Amino acid sequence: MPAIIVIGTQWGDEGKGKATDQLGDRVDYVVRYSGGNNAGHTVVVGGERYALHLLPSGILNPSCTPVIGNGVVVDLDVLFSEIDALNARGVDAERVLISANAHIITPYHQVIDKVTERFLGNRKIGTTGRGVGPAYADKVNRIGLRIQDLFDPKILAQKVEAALELKNQMLVKIYNRPTIDAGEITKRLLAHAERLRPMVTDVSLLLNRALDAGKVVLLEGAQAHHLDVDFGTYPYVTSSNPIAAGACTGSGIGPTRIDRVVGIAKAYTTRVGEGPFPGELQGDVGEQLRQAGAEFGTTTGRPRRCGWFDALVVEQAVRVNAVTDIVLTKLDVLTGWDKIPVVVAYDVNGTRHDVMPMNQSDLHHATPVYEYLDGWTEDITGCRTFSELPATTQAYVRRLEELIGTRISGIGVGPDREQQVPLHDLL
Ligand code: GDP
Ligand code: IMO
Ligand code: MG
Repeated sequence: MPAIIVIGTQWGDEGKGKATDQLGDRVDYVVRYSGGNNAGHTVVVGGERYALHLLPSGILNPSCTPVIGNGVVVDLDVLFSEIDALNARGVDAERVLISANAHIITPYHQVIDKVTERFLGNRKIGTTGRGVGPAYADKVNRIGLRIQDLFDPKILAQKVEAALELKNQMLVKIYNRPTIDAGEITKRLLAHAERLRPMVTDVSLLLNRALDAGKVVLLEGAQAHHLDVDFGTYPYVTSSNPIAAGACTGSGIGPTRIDRVVGIAKAYTTRVGEGPFPGELQGDVGEQLRQAGAEFGTTTGRPRRCGWFDALVVEQAVRVNAVTDIVLTKLDVLTGWDKIPVVVAYDVNGTRHDVMPMNQSDLHHATPVYEYLDGWTEDITGCRTFSELPATTQAYVRRLEELIGTRISGIGVGPDREQQVPLHDLL
């Protein structure tokens, strides 16, 4: 089973970090292929909590080589502060490898992320403010900076100057902000070059050779299907392709080499930032879910918007990504409800939709149609086999499988690496 992709099936924070870490001891390479430090992946090992933003979750497994692919946008200040913080906790993080083609997030991308959000006012996206969108915009505009540019200071200086030419005019004339000095930026970037040099690799070559040799490669998604720039709730999305197809473009592995796509789905639904969320619970019930699941962003600390499990949301992700297995996370959080509602359809102005509507405006006007499943009161955090789960918990899992059209191969019953109920082998 050489190449496996892990993706989020909702709007992020499904528990991709934990799922990736759990497979780590059977994996040779863990590769981030999209996004940047907008991600926040929490891994809990023996009670110790690690919040990873840019580094792949495989970093916590000593036998695993962590890799940052070409599809990622890298903030070098964040990279090295994350490496230093892990080194200080006894994790050798210096071993991470980085694609020479990955793009760089600079301080001017962060400034632009923030001023454009302010400019949008109530049309804002609710970004993480990390400069991710503007860095991808420069990549597509062909004025981005790549990791390999750091090793040619003359070229780097020219590229920074070119990138800032229009941006400085915009900053002053439209956003009423001071200009940014190209020389200062170049100096700040070059300060990282020598420490970075041994990490820079032809990632595509490395991974293809590894697969040829029968090694196991796990491609760790960040963000999620419904934040994808093509398939998400545009424009309330991130600026990359977190979907499974993005794992190929973001790492340099061809589609025929992928063996399995594991979708991570929370047993309910959350979203951070703006954008449509038909099943959102505004009142006390939403607050109860938020408290029970500790639903506050790993990256920005913002309270996550909460709702019950939405089968349409996960079904679309299963379909578009050809998901082979689902890992259902945070099932323990649902303990204690008499009935657990599940969104099985949307009502859009009197018309029933059994799959997510094609048009975004329908999604904005959708109200959820619920099916009510029996709850349970037993503490399930100590369960390690499916048969140990209460009968109603088992029935909840089986009904979700029917609704989303794929098998559930693992169930999360707590944040710790060990708190998992396996149903089918993923590797
Ligand atoms: P990611 O971005 O997809 O990696 O997810 P996050 O780390 O942002 O958010 C998931 C949160 O849920 C983290 O705090 C995890 O420690 C926690 N978590 C993951 N799986 C479970 C689970 O099965 N039960 C509980 N109670 N918490 C979990
Ligand atoms: P992980 O990997 C949840 C959301 C932001 C915002 C939108 C665009 O931890 O699941 P961006 O800064 O990317 O331009 O913001 O995307 N967002 C996430 N929400 N989890 C994430 O990552 C996210 N990364 C971005 O809140 O709505
Ligand atoms: Mg997260």
